[in-house]
Amino acid sequence: MDAARSLDVLWVMQDAPVIPVIVLSEVAHAVPLARALVAGGIRMLEITLRSPQALACMRAIAAEVPDAVLGAGTVRNAQDARAAAAAGARFAVSPGYTGSLGRACLDLGLPLLPGVATASDIMRCQDDGLCAFKFFPALAAGGGAMLKAWGGPFAEARFCPTGGVTLDNAPALLALPNVVCVGGSWLVPPDALAQADWPRITRLAQEAVALRPGARASLC
Ligand code: 3PG
Repeated sequence: MDAARSLDVLWVMQDAPVIPVIVLSEVAHAVPLARALVAGGIRMLEITLRSPQALACMRAIAAEVPDAVLGAGTVRNAQDARAAAAAGARFAVSPGYTGSLGRACLDLGLPLLPGVATASDIMRCQDDGLCAFKFFPALAAGGGAMLKAWGGPFAEARFCPTGGVTLDNAPALLALPNVVCVGGSWLVPPDALAQADWPRITRLAQEAVALRPGARASLC
């Protein structure tokens, strides 16, 4: 197992209670959005590879917002991982896991938070030395009850539940001993982006940071 690789992912997960899942379709939004989130206390930013502009947005943030720690989301294969790293990503989040994606991230030195939804997914990732996971789609796949159940056979595993998480249901998830942080798109509402309402996004980030004061020491 590559402990350094897992610890890097835990460093990303422990920085704040929420990793924002960000979908950007306009490059002009990238830098003010990143600054608004950082101003609210959220530094770990997951920019999803879901739009043709995503890599350009990442390059802009990497160049102009040094306080942000740029991550790439929706990384589905080795090619995505290489493109994200070239655009300045310092960590990668994937909806699922393949060995070729894991190897590419290892070669690139890109910490990977791989998506899991079943016990077999966790075991496959563990075989490749990973011990921290994005539980996706969290609410649809069992939510807190599933995380509690996994605490038995996978007591050492740590999770970032994502998918259906909100400001309202996040506290119950964050209270679980195997949850380090949650992920969610609610910090970056499409209408706030369209209106360039950066103060609203800073307020949403501040609310998210207040979900749990301080970082939890949580090693696997
Ligand atoms: C993801 O890609 O992680 C999810 O689509 C985010 O889910 P949410 O929009 O329900 O937060």
